[in-house]
Amino acid sequence: MLRAEGLHVSFPGRHGGDTARAVDGVDLDLRAGEIVALVGESGCGKTTLARSLLGLLPPTAGRVTFDGRPLDYSSGALRTYRKRVQLVLQDPSGSLNPRHTVYDAVAEGLRIHRYGGDERAAVAEALSRAGLRPAERFFQRYPHELSGGQRQRVVIAGALVLEPKLLVADEPVASLDASVRGEILALLLRLRDELDLSALVVTHDLGLAWNIADRVAVMYLGRIVETGSVEQVLSAPRHPYTQALLSVLPDAPGEPVVLAGEPPDPSRISAGCRFHARCPVLASGEAERAGVADACLTRDPEILGGGGEEQAACH
Ligand SMILES: Nc1ncnc2c1ncn2[C@@H]1O[C@H](COP(=O)(O)OP(=O)(O)OP(=O)(O)O)[C@@H](O)[C@H]1O
Ligand SMILES: [Mg+2]
Repeated sequence: MLRAEGLHVSFPGRHGGDTARAVDGVDLDLRAGEIVALVGESGCGKTTLARSLLGLLPPTAGRVTFDGRPLDYSSGALRTYRKRVQLVLQDPSGSLNPRHTVYDAVAEGLRIHRYGGDERAAVAEALSRAGLRPAERFFQRYPHELSGGQRQRVVIAGALVLEPKLLVADEPVASLDASVRGEILALLLRLRDELDLSALVVTHDLGLAWNIADRVAVMYLGRIVETGSVEQVLSAPRHPYTQALLSVLPDAPGEPVVLAGEPPDPSRISAGCRFHARCPVLASGEAERAGVADACLTRDPEILGGGGEEQAACH
């Protein structure tokens, strides 16, 4: 349904510095009814990729297609597109206006899109789909009168009211406590089943990916470095970066792998494999013994295909 092909998004360097290649060659497919988790450490380009998939950031190279057609970046076409593909942000990032009632927050999208049907009924339906029932009881409430979980449900209702085909959720539960987190995730899963909704869920949290996603894409410095089904990637990770991310989870077996080196900087992506400076497999001599150390230093692994098969960008 949604596809990124050879997607690049760069930002001009600050103070005349080098260009930041925030998304640096990404292929990614999202099928109908599929939930894909996009994981990776802070600054690896997850939000930039998500915004680009939504048409909010035009790619520097490559393209995004929806239902087989390339995105049209004219404002009218983008407005129609954003009815089909909705962004869900976490509420503490200010996606709810404190001066708007729940009703107005949810109706806003309908008004922008000049909805011709029964607005009240559509708002009530979206709120109850998001688990706020009876919906009418929430119409005149303000965000500060709600719990964190309820606010996140209002944000989700605001996306659902336009009957999208796909949600792009950027850290939808990052600020919620554990019990509420589970409820919001259960909600996303239910929506997938009831509405055949697809979702790209951006998260730092691999445990969350495990609970919700069909497929995982692990991002490092602007690239997807490993992808596959959740079971494959999280129980038998192949890329040393994924292995390191998993090794620091609280219940991981074995010693945690703490990555050496500086945090990655998209304005200075190294030659060869972009992970080589921090790669434990290269540092330990294992890559040398396998006869690939030269390739690690000099050859950029190929861009992974966007489909569902298990792949890792590692020599
Ligand atoms: N508008 C911008 N101008 C310049 N650089 C930017 C801009 N937006 C993002 N970047 C840079 O692009 C890189 C990727 O940022 P992005 O926000 O996509 O990361 P992220 O994976 O979403 O991180 P986090 O997990 O912290 O949300 C970062 O180095 C960031 O500094
Ligand atoms: Mg982000």
